[in-house]
Amino acid sequence: MEVILAESAERVAERAAELIRILLEKKPDAVLGLATGSTPVALYAKLVALHKAGRVSFRRVTTFNLDEYVGLPPAHPQSYRHFMEEHLFRHVDLAPERTHLPDGRMANPLEAGPDYEAKIRAAGGIDLQILGIGGNGHIGFNEPTSSLGSRTRLKTLTGRTLEDNRRFFAEGEFQPTLAVTMGIATILEARKIVLLATGRGKADAVRNAVEGPVTCVCPASALQWHPNATAVVDPEAAEKLQYVDYYRSVLDIQDGLVGKFGEYRV
Ligand code: PGA
Repeated sequence: MEVILAESAERVAERAAELIRILLEKKPDAVLGLATGSTPVALYAKLVALHKAGRVSFRRVTTFNLDEYVGLPPAHPQSYRHFMEEHLFRHVDLAPERTHLPDGRMANPLEAGPDYEAKIRAAGGIDLQILGIGGNGHIGFNEPTSSLGSRTRLKTLTGRTLEDNRRFFAEGEFQPTLAVTMGIATILEARKIVLLATGRGKADAVRNAVEGPVTCVCPASALQWHPNATAVVDPEAAEKLQYVDYYRSVLDIQDGLVGKFGEYRV
């Protein structure tokens, strides 16, 4: 997996925004896979700023988010639809009908997965998928022990995830324990994957994902099978990586080659 060691959380967001800007320059009708959580908030702020500066347009873009809670209406402040509207959708020129999240309100939530997969397929698949990583190594809501071959489906959240996200809900407020999430195999079908991680709380998960064995106990480790996955990490999230010197040298060499050979990867 390519590892980009960013100088700060701010630079993580800038690097990711730049990857998206370059993609949209080449492919204005790209399909983006998006994520919620606190990590991508800074990325969305950068994209909004780039849009307002006239440097990026989402007019022809289609988006698919990783997951959505079951049982929250779209207007609920903690629904992921609401999150995306607040942080990105309403600030840019995205066509509302081309923004997708799994439907957590289907009468039969078991149908939400196949329905979403069909929509992703119909859009031609995801060009670039943005991911955060849970402190437990989850991607989307694929919790530890999720099948590495899983597709979009209903998933029960772990106690750790519920605890991590409790801060977003008021005391006594209903906090969903179920979500519909893209599966790990669904995520791996994206043509490019960019995982963002910031803060010390992610250091173990990042180490396990990038340098540990491929195991369902750390769902993000499945990205090691992806031929075009990049982890963009800040110094705290990179703290437990063993091969930092190597990643740094790769980036130095790559910087020298870009320009000579285009986007050559070494
Ligand atoms: P966070 O969540 O960005 O809020 O830390 C990441 C995730 O759980 O995927």
